[in-house]
Amino acid sequence: MADSGEHANIGLLGCGTIGSGVFHLVGKNERLLTMAAGRPLRISRILVKQIDEPRPFPVDRSLLTTDATAVLQDPGIDVFIELIGGIEQARSFALDVLGRGKHLVTANKELIACHGRELMEEAARSGSQVRFEASVGGGIPLIRPLEESLGGDRVQKIMGIVNGTTNYILTRMSDEGSTYAEALAGAQELGFAEADPGADVEGADAASKLAILCSIAFNTGVTDTQVYREGIQGVRPEDLENAREMGYAIKLLAVAISEDDGISARVHPTMIPLEHPLASVSGNFNAIFVTGESVGDLMFYGQGAGSLPTATAVLGDVVNIVRNMDRPPTSRRSYWSRAANVKSIDDALTRFYMVLRVLDRPGVLAQIAGVFGDNQVSLESVVQKGFGDNAQIVMITHQVTERNFQEARKRLESLDVVLEIPSVIRVESE
Ligand SMILES: NC(=O)c1ccc[n+]([C@@H]2O[C@H](COP(=O)([O-])OP(=O)(O)OC[C@H]3O[C@@H](n4cnc5c(N)ncnc54)[C@H](OP(=O)(O)O)[C@@H]3O)[C@@H](O)[C@H]2O)c1
Repeated sequence: MADSGEHANIGLLGCGTIGSGVFHLVGKNERLLTMAAGRPLRISRILVKQIDEPRPFPVDRSLLTTDATAVLQDPGIDVFIELIGGIEQARSFALDVLGRGKHLVTANKELIACHGRELMEEAARSGSQVRFEASVGGGIPLIRPLEESLGGDRVQKIMGIVNGTTNYILTRMSDEGSTYAEALAGAQELGFAEADPGADVEGADAASKLAILCSIAFNTGVTDTQVYREGIQGVRPEDLENAREMGYAIKLLAVAISEDDGISARVHPTMIPLEHPLASVSGNFNAIFVTGESVGDLMFYGQGAGSLPTATAVLGDVVNIVRNMDRPPTSRRSYWSRAANVKSIDDALTRFYMVLRVLDRPGVLAQIAGVFGDNQVSLESVVQKGFGDNAQIVMITHQVTERNFQEARKRLESLDVVLEIPSVIRVESE
């Protein structure tokens, strides 16, 4: 420990939405935090890009600096909190402090999903700790429950809504019958979506979070690039309406299953039965459904983003580190160095909802049925909607491999009687 008497000294790297929330809570909850951590916490330096930038919560200006070296090399700091975001600069700061034996807390999902292995190895070498509770599900305690509380169980499946922006957009589309573009514009107006919403709507944010959950839950190193992903841009108001009529909601789900022959990890719009607990998670909330072999089903629900919820998770990590600072780390997460066996999406087994726009003439259904039969796709339900030019067939398949389904889809697209396949959405059975 530093020359700080009994205090644990914290270096804050970044002081925007989350960083200023952390500063606020350290002051507001001083007594609680001291009790939980076993000694008082003190933020001793804050690194920012521009001193005069407005911040959501007021901070002590005398602590702010733009001198990264002065903060990173301050020997008095015990724990660094990385809240600048992005990958390369954050990685360089993280490796720097870990290399000098300092502990690191981060809320940066991209950093952990891309470079988790490197950070864990560096921490193991220098005897420091890395914690990242806030990187998935904002304020929802998830990493520590998976890592510690469920350490004695075999996690079989994780299925969650881990991106609030897309959940907000899909909820608006469903409630108001609005198009994707209208709902996105509304979300941007209210600050629930970024001006550049790409990482959220294309599923990249959820894929990073799922990679982290897989690594922790299945004890192996999964990176974001190993997670299959599809975004929500193709979901139409008609699909939400069809889904509701058939007893389903559509959500962007992150799904990971641990099987004997590997891990299946994917993010895509998914139809789930209305009675499933995830179906009623609306707006910008997050919820993660975990199935353990012995514990059964668990659900974690709460605010997956936002200044104070996320800052709470960050401080939970700081408390945990400070409480154990004088002991050797209990977990080195050496499993992160074992490359995960993540299966190809082609091997995933799911059901599919598909809409076909077809010519309204005799024999069409028989041709379509023939293609499905050739590819071992069997149908659970088929409904014709509309007539003439507007004839559409809405169908749901039984479980089928992605490979067989996509082969059938390709064949259908080449049929003269099929004008268009405007929608394909995977369906979760339970
Ligand atoms: N926002 C959320 O709800 C949320 C939820 C969960 C996780 N997270 C994660 O938390 C992290 C922080 O997010 P945020 O929303 O707080 O970001 P933010 O509001 O953009 O704040 C970023 C902070 O980092 C500083 N900064 C950026 N680049 C820097 C550099 N090269 N050197 C020094 N300082 C630098 C900025 O300085 P200036 O203030 O001078 O510009 C700012 O204070 C991200 O990894 C994000 O993914 C965010």
